[in-house]
Amino acid sequence: MAEPIRVVVTGAAGQIAYSLIYMLSRGEVFGYDQPIILHLLDIPPMMGVLEGVVMEITDCALPLVVGVVPTADLSVAFKDVQAAFMVGSMPRKQGMERKDLLSANVKIFKAQGEALDKYARKDVKVMVVGNPANTNALMCSKYAPSIPKENFSAMTRLDQNRAQAAVANRLGVRINQVKNVIIWGNHSSTQFPDALNATVEVGGASKSVPQALNNDPWLKEEFVTTVQNRGAAVIAARKMSSAMSAAKAAADHMKDIWNGTAPGTYTSMAVLSDGSYGVPADLMFSFPVTIANREWKIVQGLPIDDFSRAKLDITAKELLEEKEDAVALCQD
Ligand code: NAI
Repeated sequence: MAEPIRVVVTGAAGQIAYSLIYMLSRGEVFGYDQPIILHLLDIPPMMGVLEGVVMEITDCALPLVVGVVPTADLSVAFKDVQAAFMVGSMPRKQGMERKDLLSANVKIFKAQGEALDKYARKDVKVMVVGNPANTNALMCSKYAPSIPKENFSAMTRLDQNRAQAAVANRLGVRINQVKNVIIWGNHSSTQFPDALNATVEVGGASKSVPQALNNDPWLKEEFVTTVQNRGAAVIAARKMSSAMSAAKAAADHMKDIWNGTAPGTYTSMAVLSDGSYGVPADLMFSFPVTIANREWKIVQGLPIDDFSRAKLDITAKELLEEKEDAVALCQD
């Protein structure tokens, strides 16, 4: 059997981690023959809850889990890790302004970036789930200068999965018949869910989604707003934010980093912009990417019409503002 790899999950006592840890431990991300040592980080007041999670991991009798390290200490949590799921962050509380949330969370990601820099392996793959995910990932990477910037990404896969499911429902096909739905920009309500370049397989032939839907205006209207507001709709119904679906998306995201994307298929994740598609450089912006040998490449040359251009610009503007605020807050 392969040597175990060390995988950290932050926010390990929280609700996303509760589903995610099980998926990782079953082999769904790193492979069904890859043993793992789980590093579970949370804050000191949550150590009792975390102890309960560790008891449950033990009671699952999972053969791939060869070690569990629950901790509130960053130097222990990030020591020699090869993969990092950065889920932990402060949830938005009533009356809190967006800036207050940003302030609390970017400082967490600054400290965790510094710890990754000091203690993690230099080839660690870091994915950020905790909100504001794009800007947290940017700041985390800035404070971990010895780790390649390409090793950092933020999750928009939940949005992509939501968008893919919405298109499949509309067409009345199975989810895996729909390919290459894109999320552009921020993991926020300014994101641009784009099915204009997506395809659907029907009877062995591939067709463009707009063509299959006879250019239904739904694609530029309700589809976009439904995906943008899906997180809020789940909260309204469940009284808690998406957790099972967020964990599944985090697993999908890291699995693609680890194993690559299938030929002809791309996936969305927020990665450091190099100026592609006229997006300002040095933002963590969600693009369509292909992945091979654990390295991503932004898919080039997709057509961007005036409608899409305007949507890309709105979400890029929001990310620029978030970045400016975050940089200022981290200097305080
Ligand atoms: P939760 O509140 O159930 O769990 C968060 C956990 O993080 C708690 O156990 C908390 O103690 C811990 N935590 C807080 N500060 C920490 C720190 N400095 N170090 C380590 N752990 C810390 O929240 P849930 O539902 O698990 O969500 C986690 C985050 O994921 C939230 O920021 C949420 O907004 C975000 N999210 C992102 C999505 C995406 O698509 N990118 C989708 C859904 C949620």
